[in-house]
Amino acid sequence: MVLLKSVNKMVKTMELKPFKKESVMPLPVAFISTVSKEGVRNIAPYGCVMPVLRPLDLICIATAKRRDTLDNIRETGEFVVNLAGADFADKVIPTAKAIPADQDEFEFAGLEEKPSKKISAPGIKGSYAWMECELFKLYEEASYILIMGKVVHLEVEDEVYDETGLCNVDKARPLMMMGADDGMHFCTVEELGKFEPFSAMFPQGKDPLAKMYRENDST
Ligand SMILES: Cc1cc2nc3c(=O)[nH]c(=O)nc-3n(C[C@H](O)[C@H](O)[C@H](O)COP(=O)(O)O)c2cc1C
Repeated sequence: MVLLKSVNKMVKTMELKPFKKESVMPLPVAFISTVSKEGVRNIAPYGCVMPVLRPLDLICIATAKRRDTLDNIRETGEFVVNLAGADFADKVIPTAKAIPADQDEFEFAGLEEKPSKKISAPGIKGSYAWMECELFKLYEEASYILIMGKVVHLEVEDEVYDETGLCNVDKARPLMMMGADDGMHFCTVEELGKFEPFSAMFPQGKDPLAKMYRENDST
C-alpha cells in the first residue's frame, strides 16, 4: 500500500501486477459472428475491441491465435461486431465455450441470426447495434494478432438511438465486464447527464469533423 496525496485527502493505493489491467478497466463485451468457409456459423465474445479514431471507419480487435473466429475471418474476410445489452450476459459462456469448429454456435447458444446487408456473415438478433466488417489488415505478433476491420455497414436499433446521434445507454444497457482474480463480473454503464460538444476541444470552438456528422444517416 502506498499513500498518495490527492487534492485534499490522503488516498491509499495498491500496486497490482501489470497483467491485471482488466481488473481496473471495464471492457465492452462484443459478440463477434463469423461463418467458416464450409458455412458453419460461429459466435465468440470479445472484450478487447477498440474503435480506431474518430472519424475513421476502422475497428481493432485483439485475438489469441487459436480462435475459430480468427480462422473464419482469415478465410472469408468478414465478421460482424454485435453490440448487445445486459440481457445477453447469459449468452457469454455458451458462446465462449470451446466447441468443435464444425458445430453451429447460433444453435448451441440458442441465438437467432439477423441477416447482414453488405456481407455474408450474419449478425445476432436481439443485439442493439451491428457493425458489418471486412478484414482490413492483420497485425501478427508471437502471442496475439490485432484484427483491423473496416466497418462497411453500421446499423442500430431505432429505439436506442435519438435524433442527436446519441445512443441512449439507459435503454441499450451495453453489456460490459470487469475482470477479477477468479473471473468476470458483468456490468453496464450509466448516463451522467453531462454533455460537452466536440467543438469545446478546439481552439476556434469549431469541430473540424462536424460536417461529416451533419450528413444524414439513412433509415
Ligand atoms: C467476456 C469475454 C471476453 C473475451 N474477450 C476475448 C478477446 O478479446 N480476445 C480473445 O482472443 N478471446 C477473448 N475471449 C475468449 C473467447 O471468447 C473464447 O476463447 C471463445 O471460445 C473463442 O471462440 P471461437 O474459437 O469460436 O472463436 C473472451 C471471452 C469472454 C468470456
